[in-house]
Amino acid sequence: MTEPQASTPRRPSAEKAVIVLAGATGDLGLRIARHLAQRGATVRALVRPGNASPAVAALRELGATIIDADFNSVTALTKACAGADCVVSALSGLREVIVETQKRLLDAAVAAQVPRFIPSDYCIDYTKLPAGSNRNLDLRREFNQRLDQAPIAATSVLNGMFTDLLTGQAPVVLFGLKRVVYWGDADQPLDFTTIENTAEFTAAAALDPGTPRYLRVAGEVASIRDVQRAASAASGQPFGLLWAGSVGVLGALSKLTKALMPESDDVFPPWQGMQYLHNMFTGLPKLAPLDNARYPEIRWTSVQDVLATRPLGE
Ligand SMILES: NC(=O)c1ccc[n+]([C@@H]2O[C@H](COP(=O)([O-])OP(=O)(O)OC[C@H]3O[C@@H](n4cnc5c(N)ncnc54)[C@H](OP(=O)(O)O)[C@@H]3O)[C@@H](O)[C@H]2O)c1
Repeated sequence: MTEPQASTPRRPSAEKAVIVLAGATGDLGLRIARHLAQRGATVRALVRPGNASPAVAALRELGATIIDADFNSVTALTKACAGADCVVSALSGLREVIVETQKRLLDAAVAAQVPRFIPSDYCIDYTKLPAGSNRNLDLRREFNQRLDQAPIAATSVLNGMFTDLLTGQAPVVLFGLKRVVYWGDADQPLDFTTIENTAEFTAAAALDPGTPRYLRVAGEVASIRDVQRAASAASGQPFGLLWAGSVGVLGALSKLTKALMPESDDVFPPWQGMQYLHNMFTGLPKLAPLDNARYPEIRWTSVQDVLATRPLGE
């Protein structure tokens, strides 16, 4: 008997695909679960025992099978992966999660002969960045080196920055001051994709047996000048630009902030956000070519539409 090809569905098309989802209780993960369910998949959500968050109830409502998963046990994870078509990770964390937990999940997927694996990447193109320039992306690179050696087909979804962050967490659009702050070149193209679009695309990719190693999407490719226009149009009030220095200045600032801050296991401390912005403003991790058209039913949300959800003056 020949082994199933990575690009060949393992079950007759009338049968539902089975997707194992780690990190299903998270912001991105729950949205992936919803899109998988909408696309007719059977979702097996791996949930940490004792998790009583509303996300678990929401997963149940979607019809997902909740599996109390011991993420420290490859044996338990292998059992949870049996018969699945794809393992999708939307885990979030530092080394213990992105490298160690995902390694156990990968070992389990391989042991259970799952044909495909989507790691928790969902970021700018770290394959083009020098090691050491972004702590969180270094961890992804490290895990993916391991993934590349495993006998399983892997697909990373790269989506740039979550557009949603522009409404608050990323200090780029200063709503109070009506300024868009930037470093380097205001015309540098930057990749933005909403969490929702990333989830929808990931669900489609999970159900697509022929995906390549990398899929790159951007809901909108926008320069800082485009973001300025979007903020003005979304608010009906003119936003200006605020140049905060060269890209090198931002790089130095992130190093200084990191050195001054106490060590913590915060996944996104301020200096990490600065590393991310620094990476983006260098232009190195720009996503190309884009695979937006792969699933033509997906409607991409613009930066302006996201900014319009944020009331002015906050
Ligand atoms: N491109 C961007 O701008 C951007 C921005 C933000 C995030 N992201 C990426 O998107 C992905 C998902 O992030 P998110 O915001 O959805 O994260 P999140 O809301 O914090 O959810 C994280 C998920 O991982 C689970 N988890 C955390 N530690 C775990 C562990 N030790 N063992 C098992 N499960 C664990 C959590 O389970 P519990 O519910 O049990 O805690 C939860 O389901 C990550 O790769 C993240 O880096 C990208």
